Amino acid sequence: MESAATRTAKPGRTAPSRRLEAIPPYMFAELERRVSAKRAAGIDVISLGIGDPDEPTYSHIVEAMRVAVGDPANQNYPANRGREEFRAALAGYYARRFGVELDPSSEAMPAIGAKECIYNLCFAFCDPGDVVLVADPGYPVYTGGPTLAGAEPVLLPLRPELGFAPDLDAIPAAALERARLLFLNYPNNPTGAVVPDGLFERAVALAHDHDLLVAHDNAYSEITRDGYVAPSFLETPGAREVGVEVFSLSKGFNMTGWRCAAIVGNADAIRTYWRLKTNIDSGLFEAIQLAGVAALEGPREPIDEMNRIYARRRDLVVGALAELGVEVAPTKATIYVWAPVPDGHTSVSFSELVLERAAVVVSPGSMYGPSGEGWFRISLTTPDERIVEAVERMKEHLR
Ligand SMILES: Cc1ncc(COP(=O)(O)O)c(C=O)c1O
Repeated sequence: MESAATRTAKPGRTAPSRRLEAIPPYMFAELERRVSAKRAAGIDVISLGIGDPDEPTYSHIVEAMRVAVGDPANQNYPANRGREEFRAALAGYYARRFGVELDPSSEAMPAIGAKECIYNLCFAFCDPGDVVLVADPGYPVYTGGPTLAGAEPVLLPLRPELGFAPDLDAIPAAALERARLLFLNYPNNPTGAVVPDGLFERAVALAHDHDLLVAHDNAYSEITRDGYVAPSFLETPGAREVGVEVFSLSKGFNMTGWRCAAIVGNADAIRTYWRLKTNIDSGLFEAIQLAGVAALEGPREPIDEMNRIYARRRDLVVGALAELGVEVAPTKATIYVWAPVPDGHTSVSFSELVLERAAVVVSPGSMYGPSGEGWFRISLTTPDERIVEAVERMKEHLR
């Protein structure tokens, strides 16, 4: 039996919990710190690091918010289930955009951003000892969420030769036995890949065979170009029986600061997520839900215009990289270009070189997981003239 003498010392008053200690510092925090230090030293740093749209939220959404925020009826605690109008607007959007019919009363509810939703799905479904299957490289919350929930993230390398799909047949049997959740994300951050043929179908089969829940993160479905139209996971036959989709308004509607997203799909899973949320937060501000309705029911032109802007910037970046001898496939979706680092460099050493020589921030691929080693990510969410300046500097200082 443990005696007072053998008991591990109690951590200090402000020591983080072991769970928090287990995850590395949030990568963007470190990036921001380095950029701030350079800027404080008077250096004009151009950040192509963070994926936060530079263009404003579309004006009809802002107008809807202006009206909604002034109405006292929208100022109380919201219900976690969400307003009827918001759920109906989501169902309408899914029907028009993806051909997916949702029951707005049971198959859709708001989330306070996709990030919240992804994190809380881990707490809703996982106990210590459970496994969460996550893409590597991938959005960091897919690994941080399970770790904080006491579960184990098992990394599935995204294979360039498979179109940046994980090899679902290569998942160890022991991991599948304990797996509760599989996170997928197409169009993909950080690789910019679109969903490879057959992957969603294979994920549905895997979920059936191993009794796990697929959570597809559809944060980038509206950011596409070159004629590509991204599907919803829920279009896949059988998907609704085994999965949910996280849909975010952040990127498609330039609404990252608004924290407006939704979870759609399997009704039982959504009920479990709702049950967790009733213990944690008090729902999405109703005025934001009404602004979300304006977004979902509004015109398509502003999205098309944003996609033209990202296509132009993508071409600028891909062209400049080619001049530096870095060949990349022009990504058909997302706000990112994913490129291999030149020979002789690691992801970090190349990103540091770019920061030191050109005062340009690119994200080292290894920040997104071990399989991101050997790659770097450029975000297209910087005004055209700054992108031009950044690529000119890179051409001048890195050649
Ligand atoms: C793949 C992916 N999922 C989710 C998010 C976060 O979305 P939200 O702003 O809705 O929390 C991001 C943000 O960069 C992302 O890249």
